Amino acid sequence: MRNAPRRVRDWTRAQRVEGGDGAVEGRDVADVRLQPSVTNPRGAPDSWQSLSGRLDRSLIGDQGAALALVAAYLRPAGTVEADESGRTLGILAVTAAEAIYLELGPGSFLIAPMWFKMDAFAEPRDGSAAIGPRFDYLAVAPAAAAICYPFLLKAFHAVVGTQAATPSPLAIVGATLILAVAFVVPFLALALACRPDADPGTRRLAYAGVATPTLYVFLGVVQTLIRSPVADELVWCVLWLAIAIWSQTARNPVAATRPTVERWRIVHGVTAAVLCLYVAFHLANHLFGLIGPDAHAAVMKIGRVVYRSGVGEPLLVAAMLFQIGTGLFLARHWSAAPQDFHRTFQVASGAYLSLYILGHMNSVFIYARSFLGIPTDWNFAIGAPTELIHDAWNIRLLPHYALGVFFVLSHLASGLRVVLIAHGVDRRAANRLWGAGVATSAVISAAIIAGMCGVRIS
Ligand code: HEM
Repeated sequence: MRNAPRRVRDWTRAQRVEGGDGAVEGRDVADVRLQPSVTNPRGAPDSWQSLSGRLDRSLIGDQGAALALVAAYLRPAGTVEADESGRTLGILAVTAAEAIYLELGPGSFLIAPMWFKMDAFAEPRDGSAAIGPRFDYLAVAPAAAAICYPFLLKAFHAVVGTQAATPSPLAIVGATLILAVAFVVPFLALALACRPDADPGTRRLAYAGVATPTLYVFLGVVQTLIRSPVADELVWCVLWLAIAIWSQTARNPVAATRPTVERWRIVHGVTAAVLCLYVAFHLANHLFGLIGPDAHAAVMKIGRVVYRSGVGEPLLVAAMLFQIGTGLFLARHWSAAPQDFHRTFQVASGAYLSLYILGHMNSVFIYARSFLGIPTDWNFAIGAPTELIHDAWNIRLLPHYALGVFFVLSHLASGLRVVLIAHGVDRRAANRLWGAGVATSAVISAAIIAGMCGVRIS
């Protein structure tokens, strides 16, 4: 419904007609009544306009010429002809522009022309009419949250400081809250992926948002590998803006032409069952970190005999890549249409995992073993010597690892639920088992991360 050809002026008039004598005429009014949640999520368009106008101005503030340029572009979004998409995406753009300006300073002039790409939002997807005021501003919320993510981690580091500093109790509480908000980013995206009225582009943007923590690590490692002189935050903001634009302008696939995926579901499940053996060992290995680095190393030494052997390692990597390929194919299928919560969780956790495993293998094989030439042991995992908590870069590993463990286990629980239901197990019993699996995943994830942060059981 975001593409409905309607302007704010028309829409507000429609509201008045509807609230008047009840005479409903014209398709504008009829559409508004059909889609109340999407049409008017705020309930008061005038106050929203003035609020977002204030927000635009306060964000732009004194940031200088580059932001003035953005503001000049966004000005049309403040007119009566403007639609909500222009304003919402304008706010998103200004937020990113702030980050870019802070990184590049006046050099941000150089990238100013990219803002004009925002014109894409003023164009209808089918070219038949302008986007109306009922733009679904929640659609781009996953991208906005993802853009905030690196700055939350920066804020965490600013509060916690380096290993040399001893944070006050207040700083610890503040840092914990900031980290909790960072963890909200993927779960907010997961909640938005559940929305039944989202179109495929919007839903896929939400699924991408779930992968925020692992994508940010992936980006950081790739940036180091290519020796990029551009700050991670800047590349990140530009990428998310591009993804947001793509999600809102890409043509929606026609659901009826979706291929059948039954065979791939079975193949994906069988490979998962085999890979479970490695994952179970690998996570059990990391749990030994709670005893200490020596226990962790001793267990890893035993496992390496198999998974790093001449036969075992290529097989493991090939199976992982196959799993990622089939998983992404299935995710593409399931993300084309709205799904129930359990299926959405399964797709979201699978999407996270696919990107996590790709990034993780890139870190282990290419970055550590080839590029740096260092052993991929406990010290590598915890980012020694600075470790996870007190290092401005390493802190990004904490949500990345925590959700990697959580999603791999809960994804397996989701698969088990589907298999049980397919074999006649009562749906409510299967759901309860799934819930227990998800809770256990969270506990195991927390235990591994605690061990990596220095917690020890005697
Ligand atoms: C806290 C979470 C995790 C940490 C700290 C971690 C750390 C590591 C480390 C240090 C290695 C190198 C192992 C070695 O040199 O023997 C490794 C390898 C690997 N990890 Fe993880 N990992 C985690 C979670 C996961 C998860 C959830 C998966 C899969 C879903 C996974 C898949 C792999 C794979 C495929 C390898 C390559 C194995 C090889 O060396 O051949 N990891 N990981």
